[in-house]
Amino acid sequence: MKKQLIALLFAVLPVASFAAGGSGYPLEHFEPNVADQASLQDGLKTYMNYCMGCHATKFQRYERVADDLGVPHDLFNENIIFNGAKIGSLMENSMRAEESKRWFGATPPDLTLVARVRGADWLYTYLRTFYVDPKRPWGVNNKVFPDVGMPHVLAELQGLQVDNCAGQDASERDTLTGEKLCGFELVKTGSMNPAEYDQAVYNLVNFLVYSAEPMQLERERIGYWVLLFLLVLLIPAYLLKKEYWKDVH
Ligand code: HEC
Repeated sequence: MKKQLIALLFAVLPVASFAAGGSGYPLEHFEPNVADQASLQDGLKTYMNYCMGCHATKFQRYERVADDLGVPHDLFNENIIFNGAKIGSLMENSMRAEESKRWFGATPPDLTLVARVRGADWLYTYLRTFYVDPKRPWGVNNKVFPDVGMPHVLAELQGLQVDNCAGQDASERDTLTGEKLCGFELVKTGSMNPAEYDQAVYNLVNFLVYSAEPMQLERERIGYWVLLFLLVLLIPAYLLKKEYWKDVH
């Protein structure tokens, strides 16, 4: 029993350390909604425009995504796939691992399962906490992934922000007003305002959550049928019970 407990502890430990973001930075809570097709479609668009250049989602087929997200195949071909790939193919990209390693110091990992590995809270916080840091090769650093090799690829949408916490605890709030004592300040505006940017990142992370578990949508659909089936079954079961018990009373 004791051995099993220890084994369990080791199994849970890596998850626990990811949940804290690794860097100790407080994570924003993310509530996914994979039933929201409009959100997933918008997330897919951002993903294809801003992420696929470096990352692949190669455990996923375009066709599956088109069907799950309710996008007709011809529209999908015209607007979503840029690299001439066939709709039935896997979502791979052509960047070579050695090249990207030379450019970024690290290979961009496949993102199909990243929402399960890192967690949605982490992703949502990650994409909103790039900040100006002249000491880094791309001029930016990140709060939950210190010294990250990835540039701030969404800077044209978000703009650029500086961190005015300077060593203070970012989660600390004013005891009276509840306002954060320090945080980010935009020094260059992007094409979106902060609320629009948060929404775009929400949709993008929502898409990555879907991608990590496409069966979730199907399970929900099947779930409704199962419930309906059980409800219908309840009627004869009830009648049968009445019939059996009628002589007993
Ligand atoms: C210019 C290339 C490039 C683009 C475009 C890019 N990334 Fe990255 N990304 C990287 C590199 C390189 C790393 C590895 C960083 C490291 O290990 O230091 C990375 C790492 C990540 C990680 C961390 C993965 C992990 O678990 O370690 C996530 C999440 C991520 N990228 C998401 C995205 C998303 C979402 C987009 C689109 C908005 C995007 N990236 C666009 C290059 C890119």
